[in-house]
Amino acid sequence: MTHSAGVGTRGTWGSKLTFVLAAAGSAIGLGNIWGFPMMVGLYGGSGFVFVYLICVLLLGVPVMMAELTIGRSARSDPVGAFKKLAPQTRWRFVGVLGVVTGLVILSYYSVVAGWTLRYLATTLTEGLGESPAEIQAAFTGFLAGPWPLVFHALFMALTIWVVMGGVEGGIERITKILMPFLLLILLLLVLRSVTLEGAWRGIDFYLRPDLSKISFSVVLAAMGQAFFSLSLGMGAMITYGSYLSEKEDLASSALYVSLSDLLVAFLAGLAIFPALFSVPGLKPDEGPALIFLVLPNIFNTIPFGQLFGTAFYLLVAIAALTSAISLLEVVVAYFIDQRGWSRRWAALVVGVSAYLLGVPSALGEGYVSFFSGFLSRVDFLFGKLSLVIGGLFICLFVGWRWGTANAVAEIQRSNPGFRLGEAWSFLVKYLCPLAIVVILIRQLADLLL
Ligand code: TRP
Repeated sequence: MTHSAGVGTRGTWGSKLTFVLAAAGSAIGLGNIWGFPMMVGLYGGSGFVFVYLICVLLLGVPVMMAELTIGRSARSDPVGAFKKLAPQTRWRFVGVLGVVTGLVILSYYSVVAGWTLRYLATTLTEGLGESPAEIQAAFTGFLAGPWPLVFHALFMALTIWVVMGGVEGGIERITKILMPFLLLILLLLVLRSVTLEGAWRGIDFYLRPDLSKISFSVVLAAMGQAFFSLSLGMGAMITYGSYLSEKEDLASSALYVSLSDLLVAFLAGLAIFPALFSVPGLKPDEGPALIFLVLPNIFNTIPFGQLFGTAFYLLVAIAALTSAISLLEVVVAYFIDQRGWSRRWAALVVGVSAYLLGVPSALGEGYVSFFSGFLSRVDFLFGKLSLVIGGLFICLFVGWRWGTANAVAEIQRSNPGFRLGEAWSFLVKYLCPLAIVVILIRQLADLLL
């Protein structure tokens, strides 16, 4: 066990499978089930889906490989990793930006995760409401009171507790059992959703190719969503990679993690949109409330709906937990590796700070109007923009400072047959940074002009 892991006694994953599961556990979370459908709804449907797919494959996979490679080579938290690979330079601030971003994302992530806990409690006991209007009223009523703070606290406490247990004892053990379950329940929901009356309209909205709604803001949103969903751009994969043993292949790990993340997001959309269009009065551009308003309607129409509902919210809460763990872990690893704190103390202090930082987000969705819109804005700044900028610097670092030759050598250390070095180097050196810069500049111009 690594309860008081100080410098030099870092944990390691038990096997490649547990690593892939934990990294997939980090990636698969609210970003897939809550964020992805929300973005598809807000940005007009299938066009977003298409751009998102390209972003994951062309930007996400290469950047994930870059992060894992940095992490395993340096065996350190994000700040320490940049310090080790580029000593005495300002590159360490990329790590600092990542640690700060992780703390902020965790703050509101835990708020939304808290909503899922409350849904879990309600499905289990009294049900979520009979009609769409009732469901809506119950949700609005919940947000208009102080209860979100309580569920936010509960969720954060759980996260702190697992991270205190360390890499093998805490994170690994819980992910291993639960991810396969999530997939199963999601498949059942998809089956139900696509067989509802009027489901085709949702499938049409979600999947029929329609590129007319693509704009630069759609591309920026899709790119940001890809980084968020894959846990990229702030050093989470650097940190998880740092616990990875020499034997494991980084390229296939990155691919497995990315594809499972993609699959879960795709299924979440397929569970939600057909159901949404089959219920009169619901609109896809609902924003953060979307999954909380749509899915209860499905549970109302299926046999054993309450059972499925309970299972579903339980699993979403767990998916959120394995993601929140990775967010907290990054910041905790920094305090352990760089400041010499004990794991327990770091987890406690950082977790409580993130809790306090999340209070405005918890209150702003209906209770305290002063904070209204806080959550979405912080999500845009830290959960999208900062990750994309972090991703840019990670590409520039691997491509131009540390060098793709060093990075490819690190990959080949465990996989001598790795042949895609050149293609990957091209993406990391040129295509990814260029794409990110062009889209950021364009977005900035839109904002300013
Ligand atoms: N990827 C997670 C999700 O989709 C959230 C997450 C966990 C994350 N760790 C991260 C996002 C690190 C960005 C960076 O829910």
